[in-house]
Amino acid sequence: MLEKARGLLRPSARSAVPPFMVMDVMAAAARLEAQGRRIVHMEVGQPAVGAPATAIAAVRAALSSGPHGYTETLGIASLRRRIARAYAEWHGIDIDADRIVVTTGSSAGFMLAFLAAFEASDRVAVALPGYPPYRHILSALGCEPVWIETSADTRWSMTMETLIAQHRARPLHGVIIGSPANPTGTMMTAPALAELIRCAEDAGIAVISDEIYHGLDYAFAAESAARVSADAIIINSFSKYFCMTGWRIGWMVVPPQLVRAVERLQQNLAISVPTLSQIAAEAAFDGRAELEKVKQGYEENRRILLEGLPRAGFNSFLPVDGAFYLYVDVSRFSTDSFEFATRMLEQAGVAATPGVDFDPLHGRKFLRLCYAGAREDMREAIERIGSWLSKKNWLKE
Ligand SMILES: Cc1ncc(COP(=O)(O)O)c(C=O)c1O
Repeated sequence: MLEKARGLLRPSARSAVPPFMVMDVMAAAARLEAQGRRIVHMEVGQPAVGAPATAIAAVRAALSSGPHGYTETLGIASLRRRIARAYAEWHGIDIDADRIVVTTGSSAGFMLAFLAAFEASDRVAVALPGYPPYRHILSALGCEPVWIETSADTRWSMTMETLIAQHRARPLHGVIIGSPANPTGTMMTAPALAELIRCAEDAGIAVISDEIYHGLDYAFAAESAARVSADAIIINSFSKYFCMTGWRIGWMVVPPQLVRAVERLQQNLAISVPTLSQIAAEAAFDGRAELEKVKQGYEENRRILLEGLPRAGFNSFLPVDGAFYLYVDVSRFSTDSFEFATRMLEQAGVAATPGVDFDPLHGRKFLRLCYAGAREDMREAIERIGSWLSKKNWLKE
């Protein structure tokens, strides 16, 4: 018989990263649904629809002809070539397919990029508000995330001045840029992005550009760091524009001198990326017509919310440029957006993510709403929020 566990194993200090609060909101919403309540979901950042039909058909066909063993560590050659071709189609630039690395979602891309480019204790700048795993993965790997606050004055993005000020205070080794950004949905203009990258690289700061929301831009076209610098690491994914979150597949564009390091890391960390997901991803490029329709749906949702939310009482939010997020300032109602989101979920039946996940400094004033859902859900959310906020005593109920 196996001996009772003696509790010898303790979680390491590096594993003590904060949880992702959106998961707590999802769990609370699921509990209410189990009681029979209808909940409008605006908390999770993922498309409501699945992979394009071309991807599904390719996987169906592949299933009848196995075996689906490991692939080359850097990814199936034809997929790497197809991704490289996309840069010519989207951005008019030639990218050598040898620089493309297929990854298990962009999440794995971050791990590979941080391990390949940084030493433990290196300082890497991240914008606040920003995607929490940037900070948490860096900490788990022993790097130091350095917060850079953003504000309305700079369209809620990091600037050359704020980056260099931090660098002068204590040298930075890297910076992560995201445009369109999560949670804000804001974007950097092409000149602002180019200026930031050039300034960072002139100062010896490595640039990692998270382009996972490319393809989902409404206010103006998103610029790729690949057009500005061959030294930047670009991270992208099939999760958002291609509607393939659960397939766990993404890619990186890596400077030539880092390709072998990333390959060695991925050989050891993952061997290769799931084969069927790679097959699906390659075929997803042929589903552009379907994906553009999905994008049009987000645009329509965005229009409905921009028109309806101010009437409902949410009249202060950041520019809604891209991705599928709206970052609402709720400070006129509450200075604790976690409590506010909890009440909105319980009383109005609308699930949203409190900003504290994304911004430990000012997130208590904000809520993130995801508009990747159905059009009717947007209308229902506006209705519900409006009638809830119009009740005098909603805060005390
Ligand atoms: C800004 C950003 N980067 C990266 C990711 C990770 O996505 P995935 O690992 O599915 O590619 C997300 C997911 O929500 C995100 O919002």
